[in-house]
Amino acid sequence: MAVDLLLGLQWGDEGKGKIVDVITQKYDIVARFQGGPNAGHTLEFDGIKHVLHTIPSGIFHKGIVNLVGNGVVIDPVIFKKELEKLAPFQIEMKDHLLISRKAHLILPTHRLLDAASEASKGKAKIGSTLKGIGPTYMDKTGRNGLRVGDLEFKDWKQKYRALALKHQEMLAFFNVEIQYDLKELEEEFFEAVEVLRNIQTVDSEQYLINAMERDKKILAEGAQGSLLDIDFGTYPFVTSSNTTAAGACTGLGVAPNKIGEVFGIFKAYATRVGSGPFPTELFDDDGVKMGKIGNEFGATTGRPRRCGWLDLVALKYAVQINGVTQLIMMKGDVLSGFAKLKVCTAYNYKGEKITHLPYSIEKEYVTPEYISFDGWKEDISKAKNYHDFPDTFKQYVDFIEDYLKTPISIVSVGPDRTQTVIR
Ligand code: GDP
Ligand code: IMO
Ligand code: MG
Repeated sequence: MAVDLLLGLQWGDEGKGKIVDVITQKYDIVARFQGGPNAGHTLEFDGIKHVLHTIPSGIFHKGIVNLVGNGVVIDPVIFKKELEKLAPFQIEMKDHLLISRKAHLILPTHRLLDAASEASKGKAKIGSTLKGIGPTYMDKTGRNGLRVGDLEFKDWKQKYRALALKHQEMLAFFNVEIQYDLKELEEEFFEAVEVLRNIQTVDSEQYLINAMERDKKILAEGAQGSLLDIDFGTYPFVTSSNTTAAGACTGLGVAPNKIGEVFGIFKAYATRVGSGPFPTELFDDDGVKMGKIGNEFGATTGRPRRCGWLDLVALKYAVQINGVTQLIMMKGDVLSGFAKLKVCTAYNYKGEKITHLPYSIEKEYVTPEYISFDGWKEDISKAKNYHDFPDTFKQYVDFIEDYLKTPISIVSVGPDRTQTVIR
């Protein structure tokens, strides 16, 4: 049985958590393949709103296995807090929550290095979530990292100490003042590691290979979005992992020829949190209105998200890079009441009209070219069937589908699990 992928096509926060929760029942296993606690995946159902950071978004469904893959970086402290927040739901974690032995650990000093690196950059800062993501992936590729599997060996604390000491020396190199009490941070860390140890670890690639042989249905859940990909995103304003489809191969050990459907999620408009170029960003009342109605505040940091019109040039790039087979459009309900909607269909790049993503999409090189649509006044948040939608909404959807040459198979019209229209 092939593995289906679900990933964000913009700058993250497209609504991955919600959709994974909605479609989980079709699967036996949900596996996160990259990122870490920089992610904030929101699920709403039965009047409950819940944000997950490391744990896959299938966790609320009985009998389904949720696997944290080798490509994920885990902060035991945040992981422990996530488990505590899940405690009231009395979820059976045994045999249902698994962690890859090859997943790397975020140390307290990784978080400090993240903070120091950002502070030293001044105005050029990435706008990192400061969860230690960049420094942890640097140690992974630098072959210095500490992995979950190391915790099974007696010498893990020595390895920890050597790495933490190195980090302390590195911190001194940054020309910035970072206040910290390492003793306190380590106490919290070691306590959390003990909690992490109670979670079942697996050789996740082998686990998934075996599952596939037994015809189990697997959904791979991405974090962040394609435009934050370390290779294909708006570098250097990106995260430190491959957020695109290839990341599922390396982050889970899924062979490329074992990938089935690739579900690409996008918002009906665009948002970005943190620094970096955003050609269709709005600085007017429309942008403010999107942010307000869409409740565009980061699920991890609470920072306001920048808002803008849908960018089809960037979206097409993401569809191509990921090999998206089905699109899922989120938050169309937020656009109700806009008299006119704009969609970017081309860029003016250094004086030339282009429809591909150029090397730089910074303001000085790129001006978006738009086409306008009539908006819809109707509240669509209660729509149950596709024919319930106003014609102007359908025209918007048709245009996007046509431009991207990929079907939109799900339309989401609100944060709740039930506010989902399958076409
Ligand atoms: P993720 O990181 O991709 O899982 O997305 P986030 O959870 O960070 O952000 C998506 C936000 O939009 C959350 O607050 C969701 O509850 C909310 N949301 C998801 N789908 C919809 C939708 O169709 N309409 C509205 N209005 N909100 C939605
Ligand atoms: P989910 O999975 C939105 C952004 C940060 C920053 C950049 C680098 O919820 O969609 P990092 O902490 O990785 O060093 O930050 O990436 N970023 C996200 N933006 N959604 C996310 O995750 C993000 N994870 C990281 O704001 O600009
Ligand atoms: Mg999010």
